[in-house]
Parts: sequence; structure tokens; C-alpha cells
Amino acid sequence: MSVADYHAPQIAERLADTLASMSPDGAMLSVQELAGFDQFHTGGLSATVRLTALLSVDAESNVLDVGSGLGGPARYIASTYGARVTGIDLSPSFVEAAIMINDRTSLGDRVSFQTGSALALPFPRDSFDVVIMQHVAMNIADRAALYAGIRNVVKSGGQFLTYDIIERTGTPAYPVPWSSTPEASFLLTEDGTRQALEQAGFAVDMWQVQGPEAAAAFQLPPGVQAPPIAAILGRPNFGQAVANLAASIADGRVAVLTAVLR
Ligand SMILES: C[S@@+](CC[C@H](N)C(=O)[O-])C[C@H]1O[C@@H](n2cnc3c(N)ncnc32)[C@H](O)[C@@H]1O
Repeated sequence: MSVADYHAPQIAERLADTLASMSPDGAMLSVQELAGFDQFHTGGLSATVRLTALLSVDAESNVLDVGSGLGGPARYIASTYGARVTGIDLSPSFVEAAIMINDRTSLGDRVSFQTGSALALPFPRDSFDVVIMQHVAMNIADRAALYAGIRNVVKSGGQFLTYDIIERTGTPAYPVPWSSTPEASFLLTEDGTRQALEQAGFAVDMWQVQGPEAAAAFQLPPGVQAPPIAAILGRPNFGQAVANLAASIADGRVAVLTAVLR
């Protein structure tokens, strides 16, 4: 299995340049300084702040971030709550990048990243107090296997947060950030997602669907041409992909789901 749009072979070189320009003297970087490119989901760092406030996380918590990308959400949880966070991602280039960024923060003892599939989580049963997954499910067709695997590694009474795009009145125009073509995009409806989660054994604690109002998250400040993450990813169609997602949220074809499960 591969996710072609998250294969970014030269990402390490681009990232090294960016990190060097941000901190030429090698000084440690903060979660806030990195947020322009390591929070890869609708709403960026402010969404992670809002989402993680919904969870019971503290310095004793063991947290798993499924599809951890460049690692911003994992680092935010470790730096804000003191938790130990493991990130797992299918893309070796993203995992390499996440580790490079980690090395420029003071969070290395609490945050780790490894390559692996959300559909074959390599952890014993009941390993984590909290599992988060932000903008990953859209790439995964077998939701039954995805949610059952997460249910297996989260402790009984623990929490699972999912923050993903769902289908509403139609399909988005492609490319979108998670896929250049419809073939690698597997959106479920709100009802389909809820059914799959409940069938995996989760109970819903919190459920929120954001419609057209969520499109505001994609507005760039005046004079800014592209979000900083675009330069790191080096994906030629990324600007179009973000514009298509924003338009598809604005016209109601897709929406943004936040759910906390127990
Ligand atoms: C849009 S990015 C989100 C990254 C991160 N969660 C964040 O919010 O910053 C989606 C990530 O999911 C990963 N991914 C997609 N399918 C996956 C799978 N089957 N198993 C693990 N990771 C996967 C991709 O490699 C990519 O890093």
C-alpha cells in the first residue's frame, strides 16, 4: 500500500534549509515557530489546540498519533501536557522529516516517530490512554480494520479523537491535499463514519460537523501566496489541492468532522 501524495523524496533537504534559516545558530525551535509547516490539517495549530483540549491528557498519559505526518500535533501534546507521544506514519520521508524537526526541539525525550501502517499498528493491546488521528482516514478504504486496530491499542476507558474530512453532498474536485486523484480518496458520510466507529466498539462522547464556516481556515493573510508547508512538501499541485478543498467545504460537498470516542 502506498499514499503517493505523501511520498516526498527531497523533503529532508528542503527541511534542512528551512530549519537552518529559522535558526542559523542551531537554537531549539518552539511548537509555535514550527506551526507554519508541521501541522498538516484544516485549521493548523489552532485546530490542534482546540481538539486536544477535548481530551484527558496529562504528564502520565501515553498517546499515539496515527498518521503523524511532520509531527506538529504530537509535539504540541508533549509540550503542552507533558505526555509521552508516539507518532506512526506510512510515509518514510515524512517520518524522517518529523525526526529531523524533533531534533531541533527540546521534546526528543517525550516524542518519537516510526514508520508503519494505521492498518497494522505494531503495539500490544491496551497500550495507549489516548489515540489521535488528524486528517488521515480519508486515505483509508477499510475503515472497519482501521477503527478496530485503534480500538485494540487504546485502553479500555481511554479516548480516541478523530478529525477528518467527510462527504456531504458530493465529491470534491481533485486534486485535494490527501490525494491527487479520486482513486486514493475514500471519504465516508457522517452516518457511515459513525456506524463504522460504533461497529468497532467505540461509544461517541463528542461529535461535531463543521460545514462551510470551516472554509475560513484556509484564508491566507494579505500578501501571502501559499501556506509555508507548500514549500516544504514541494508538491507542484499543492496550492490547487488546498484551493479545491476550501471550495468543496465552502459549497457543502464535504465537511470537517471532529469526534471523541471512548
Ligand atoms: C494530511 S497528513 C496529516 C498529518 C498529521 N496528522 C497532521 O495533522 O499534521 C496525513 C498523513 O497520514 C499519513 N497516512 C496516510 N495513510 C496512512 C496509513 N494507512 N497509515 C499511516 N499513515 C498514513 C500520510 O503519510 C500523512 O503523513
